[in-house]
Amino acid sequence: MKNSDTSLHVRGASLFIDDIVTPADCLHAALFTSPVARGKIKSLDTRAAARADGVAAVFTHSDVPGLNQVGHVFKDQPLFAVDSVEYIGQPIALVVAATRRAAARAAKLITADIEPLEAVFDPRTAAARGMIHGQKRVITVGDTAAAFAKSKFVAQGKLATGPQEHFYFETQRCLALPGEHDTLKVCASTQSPGTFHHHIAEVLGIPQNKVEFEIRRLGGGFGGKESTAVWVVAPALAAFLLKRPVKLALGRNEDIATTGKRHAYEYDYKIGLDADGNILAYEVDLYQHAGACADISLAVLGRSFLHVSGSYRIPNLRATAVSCRTNIPPNNAFRGFGVPQGNFAIEAAIAHAAETMGVDAAIVKRKNLLQDGDTLPYGLQLKTTNAVRCWETLDKQIDINRRHAAVTEYNRAHDDTKRGLAVIPVCFGISFAQTALNQASSLVNIYVDGSVSVSTGAVEMGQGVNTKIQLIAAQTLGVDADRVRVDTTNTSRIPNASPTSASTGADLNGMATQYACQTLYARLREFAAKHLGHPTPDDIVIKENAVFLKDKRTDLGWDKLVAAAQWARIDLSHHAFYATPDLHLDPQTERGRPFAYYAYGTSLTEVLLDCRRGTYAIESIDLVHDVGRPLSEAIDRGQVEGAVIQGMGWATIEQIRYAPDGKVLTAVNSYKIPDIKFCPPKFNVTLLPNSDNPFAVCNSKAVGEPPFIHGLGAYFALRHALRSVRQDKEIPSLPLTPEKVFMYLYE
Ligand code: MTE
Ligand code: MOS
Repeated sequence: MKNSDTSLHVRGASLFIDDIVTPADCLHAALFTSPVARGKIKSLDTRAAARADGVAAVFTHSDVPGLNQVGHVFKDQPLFAVDSVEYIGQPIALVVAATRRAAARAAKLITADIEPLEAVFDPRTAAARGMIHGQKRVITVGDTAAAFAKSKFVAQGKLATGPQEHFYFETQRCLALPGEHDTLKVCASTQSPGTFHHHIAEVLGIPQNKVEFEIRRLGGGFGGKESTAVWVVAPALAAFLLKRPVKLALGRNEDIATTGKRHAYEYDYKIGLDADGNILAYEVDLYQHAGACADISLAVLGRSFLHVSGSYRIPNLRATAVSCRTNIPPNNAFRGFGVPQGNFAIEAAIAHAAETMGVDAAIVKRKNLLQDGDTLPYGLQLKTTNAVRCWETLDKQIDINRRHAAVTEYNRAHDDTKRGLAVIPVCFGISFAQTALNQASSLVNIYVDGSVSVSTGAVEMGQGVNTKIQLIAAQTLGVDADRVRVDTTNTSRIPNASPTSASTGADLNGMATQYACQTLYARLREFAAKHLGHPTPDDIVIKENAVFLKDKRTDLGWDKLVAAAQWARIDLSHHAFYATPDLHLDPQTERGRPFAYYAYGTSLTEVLLDCRRGTYAIESIDLVHDVGRPLSEAIDRGQVEGAVIQGMGWATIEQIRYAPDGKVLTAVNSYKIPDIKFCPPKFNVTLLPNSDNPFAVCNSKAVGEPPFIHGLGAYFALRHALRSVRQDKEIPSLPLTPEKVFMYLYE
């Protein structure tokens, strides 16, 4: 089945925050934010703004009745700056006016006298000065020094990966509606209704039961709406204090300039291999460019850290990771949640080593690819890895060696253009690395007319989680999918939900839904037996919208069954809970089982480089990806394709520039995300056949993020093409923009 939102999207009929008709007395909010990257606030003058046309109020930290905090993990992020600022774009005051334009105009009238202080924008400098969030993490396996001494080939270097703008189509926005008894209803575009619900109550100083948070769907999130609650909490505060509806919506450039991005990373790597190409040792230091507040950076860093070995067996390893506190807006989650950054360094190290050895990188990768019995750095022994299966399925389809030979041959024969290719294997752990977050609940209501409504904490943002939940409920109850409707995500129905993130949305909420439906199914089956005068429910099956007795359809259809059960006073509603079992990670030793299972894949990306112009085209990607038994093949294919393209954009054309004073220079007219012309004309996706997964609902596997890793292939295929032109220079860091490629060729 297709994503049930598709027909709405293509007709423009899907509802987003802006489609909620605002009440006539609705006010609009605009933020006044810090113009300097670091400084002491000497004074703030909001008088002119307060007097401006249409302005209802101006709020600052002193108006906050509760806690002036939106720190997601640590309480280090004030809602409104108090006496210092730590990044350009940090909220200082909120103007509320009759129209959005009046609010924005008045916000420009606010003046702040800020004494500038030295700001740091380089993560390595921050780390050297001890400016880090949390603690440095270190993991060691075996003895790298001894293994390097035994290595025939050693490659080492420094590289970096860049930031990435989420570019969700719907920018950050929220509509807050006050109700009786100091209550508040909040509709906002966020992936974390549970946490933001908590933030709002904490800032307002009221109990959470006075706040109802509701979400229909997001116009994309990609991780960028998981933390930083400012844009939701600030209008909620205004609505609460003024007792008027208040809406806040960021403009596109305001969103780009002030919201967090994918974290840029810096890397020092060193890899050692024996004469046969077996990896003996690997050392890597990760420097995460986190920004001014911890936000969700440590969780992202944790996943990079746990994925430093990529899809490879590495007997001796030493990795360190620090989250560097710099004076830019706090960065946050972005599809892949740190795994792409963690994987980049090992892929770069292997590419470098293969160049040193004069062999095809794919040969080294295949040789060291994870197989059953191998142990990951945190001590987990793999039992059923599909890494090799994915690789071999792809190899059978396209013959990797032959493809490599064809490129070598092409490059020998051509000077003006060169080809390059890269094979990227994927091994992506599924679960929140923070064990506590791996929980979800579901409320299933069967109405007396036989229709079914499901509520979970999952947030629909285009990934199709609602359709997957709809399918799970229908399958479990034995009815057609069109009898099931997935309702809005609402904190009054589903409390304390974990964010929809880490690709676990369908896994966790789907499993809770299955549990709830199983209970209802058992109840109805027992009732059906009684109703039919049959001694045992064991002979009863509910399927195809009807009751079957000993495999024979009875005239007790689903609707009749439900109506009769209700009349017989059977509870037709059930709430169920699921927590992923057996997850743990010892923070002291960094050993444990942080993930329930892994998603695998292998891809081959091929590019064509124009050596005169420095331009390039990604000509093809062939990939095999493991989605278990897909809940919906159409959705999973869409997720694979979308993730791959987003990954390719990060690897090649998406670049964000900062001015020397820390200001984001990039705006909508200078940031290019992939479009349809960017997509490789040959885009062959195979879902790994016959893949079972006992660790997730209906044998499925999470798919939202893992395929993003294949996008790295665009960077490494370009690297391959560039190396066939010259080897006397360092390869530029990611993204490999056409400008960087041009400079590499000519400078
Ligand atoms: N797909 C679309 N269309 N829009 C999105 O915002 N977010 C991605 C991925 N796919 C996203 C998407 C991210 S970052 C995650 S973590 C997962 O979807 C979350 O959804 P899931 O857990 O239900 O897979
Ligand atoms: Mo996704 S980055 O985990 O929201």
